[in-house]
Amino acid sequence: MDIQQLSSDHRTQAGREPEGVWFAPGRVNLIGEHTDYNDGFVLPFALEKKAVVAVSRRDDGVVSMRSEELDEQVDVAIADLEPGTEGWSSYLAGVVWALRQSGQEVSGVTITLTSDVPLGAGLSSSAAIECAVVAALCDVFGLDIDPMERARVAQLAENAYVGAPTGLLDQAASTLCREDFGLFLDCRSFETAQVPLPMAEAGLEILVLDTKTPHSHVDGEYGARRRTCEEAAAILGVPALRDVTDLDAALAQLPDETMRKRVRHVVTENSRTVEAYEVARSGSLRDLGPLLDASHASMRDDYEITVPTVDLAVAVAREAGALGARMTGGGFGGCIIALCEAGSGDGIGQRVSEAYAAAGYGAPQWFIATPAPGAGRLR
Ligand code: GLA
Repeated sequence: MDIQQLSSDHRTQAGREPEGVWFAPGRVNLIGEHTDYNDGFVLPFALEKKAVVAVSRRDDGVVSMRSEELDEQVDVAIADLEPGTEGWSSYLAGVVWALRQSGQEVSGVTITLTSDVPLGAGLSSSAAIECAVVAALCDVFGLDIDPMERARVAQLAENAYVGAPTGLLDQAASTLCREDFGLFLDCRSFETAQVPLPMAEAGLEILVLDTKTPHSHVDGEYGARRRTCEEAAAILGVPALRDVTDLDAALAQLPDETMRKRVRHVVTENSRTVEAYEVARSGSLRDLGPLLDASHASMRDDYEITVPTVDLAVAVAREAGALGARMTGGGFGGCIIALCEAGSGDGIGQRVSEAYAAAGYGAPQWFIATPAPGAGRLR
């Protein structure tokens, strides 16, 4: 990540120095998948991989956006910002739009973007961009918006401007996470707790392996899962599936097997997430392993959001000695995480790579993740 180059490209684009440089990270979700839009609990941590933006104001009412990776520039007059616009620039323009929707005074701006969060890997590359832009615009326009509200503005950009019906998980993680901590978030009350994740001290590490099977959210499957949950909650007469307290009684009231499976995933995943929070808080990080395994089985069998490449990666990681493994993120591809003995993650990645070659799949990529800080200013 070359900040000098970013600043110099910003000078070329804007005709002036950036007023500052801001970042926001990608994330992995330790546990709590598809619980956020059911008013439930999630437990993500931020990655060192991040989106970085250089920003300066301009006085012609134009939002000028440049992507370093794509070597592309898109200029839009603020008056012409319109939800539903496609392409990479909608993640930046959407934030300008969402801030204005929320009553904030934001005018023309030049934004130069670079990011090393892999695209379409389920590591929240889009939330990283949105949250970096929110952080930048709050500073340059002097907006007084607390961190949770910043996450919600970024979510509004994603939901209403980009058009992906996602929950709060990604933007909250990218904005609110702290170095060496996981973020336990109640997606109904917006209460948070920072949970220490001293992996190295516990003799552990977390492997993140990108299956390279691309996934997409604007894609119908995510929305379909969400709608089924909302229908089930309506049948059960509760505001959201988070409110189901007696799972067996709830299942007995539901009309079809698919709906029962979806509800079972959400309700059990919510309990697992609360349990993972308790386990992590008590310091016994090894005990997260079985919860990760159970979460994966539930996503595979009940929520039906895994794919063969993901299931193979999880199975091989377990055989190769991981203490627990699961897909992370929205599903249908993307990344898995595996809880590993310190020093063993790389070898486990290698074993998955060999199994992929034998199965005729493309090569995966992997890295060891340590919980990194949420959005902030670099200079
Ligand atoms: C995607 C969405 C999140 C969340 C996860 C599944 O990452 O953006 O809001 O729903 O999927 O847990």
